[in-house]
Amino acid sequence: MILSASAPDSIAACAATTRAGGLIGLPTETVYGLGADADNEAAVAQIFAAKGRPSDHPLIVHVSSQDGGMSGAAHYAAQVAPFAQQLMSAFWPGPLTLILPRRAGVGEAAAGGQGTIGLRCPAHPAAQALLRALRDTSDGKPPVWGIAAPSANRFGRVSPTTAAHVASELGPDLLILDGGPCDLGIESTIIDCTRGAPVLLRPGSIGRQQVEQACGRRLLSNEELSEQDPRGLQPPKASGTLVSHYAPVAQVRLMDAKAMQTAVDLLATVMHPGGSDTKPSIAVYARTALKSIPLSILLRRMPDDAVATAYQLFAALRSFDEAGVKLIWVETPPETPDWEGVRDRLLRASAP
Ligand code: TXA
Ligand code: MG
Repeated sequence: MILSASAPDSIAACAATTRAGGLIGLPTETVYGLGADADNEAAVAQIFAAKGRPSDHPLIVHVSSQDGGMSGAAHYAAQVAPFAQQLMSAFWPGPLTLILPRRAGVGEAAAGGQGTIGLRCPAHPAAQALLRALRDTSDGKPPVWGIAAPSANRFGRVSPTTAAHVASELGPDLLILDGGPCDLGIESTIIDCTRGAPVLLRPGSIGRQQVEQACGRRLLSNEELSEQDPRGLQPPKASGTLVSHYAPVAQVRLMDAKAMQTAVDLLATVMHPGGSDTKPSIAVYARTALKSIPLSILLRRMPDDAVATAYQLFAALRSFDEAGVKLIWVETPPETPDWEGVRDRLLRASAP
């Protein structure tokens, strides 16, 4: 059931379901999440079951922006390194997830049993209204400190950016708080803060430079740190970092504009002229204008800037699946820092 976030009782209904140990679909500024009380083991187990996600893959816990997110962080984290504190001050509420050492006895199931916890303070007003309602103890209820929520898609699939996407992934029975299409469209930037230096686990809308500027430290990559780490620590398990992830059903191929034009020309020679009677089996998603596209190719222009592309990327991939194409040809995004998040998602979507 989809409830509009602006309707009077929607927040209260979602809060009641969460307090009762149920699941909800919730909007954030990045993508929609599938949420449950992060400290309720049985509720968290339902998230893994609904997604078909292996239960040792940790979930992100979302906290209220009261006190800039600090009270939520203090509940779940055993300690917050000074550079992590600076990142919270700079970017919370917002699309940044921090991996921190977990306080014993809290969020254990959400953390997949690991000694660390991923925390995020989302900026979406409906998510915050819900988180605030859950912290409310005015009529004697105990507080719910956080909502564990992975993206609300089946494991390995494209993240949902509208309430309708969530319903199509997880079924009509799920209570979904509809906060409109997500502003950003790709998942949060994840920084591991448990290894003495900030380590980028997943690129997102907040870029490297912004992170480095905010904390005055160089942002390491996972690979770099694994090589230098004298303790030989294994990088944490993160399903968003699996090579094949965020994949539509159709096969995604990345190619530059020149290769794309060559492929389109080649295709045109084997297709019937004007053969639009059959359903398209190939979608093309490109920034560069292509010449003489056969009618039987489903063409969609990729915006010229990374922010606009992130906003529509997952919906575009979903629409190609809905059109029933077998192949999605995507023009490789530019190698510039602003495109890092989009490039990362497309590389994973195109991994064999
Ligand atoms: O934007 C987002 O981050 C969205 C919205 C709903 O907030 N959430 C999201 O969650 O993308 P999910 O579960 O699809 O991706 C979370 C990523 C996973 O790769 C997970 O493994 C990693 O965060 N993660 C969570 N807790 C972790 C931990 N303790 N250590 C390492 N990685 C962790
Ligand atoms: Mg996900």
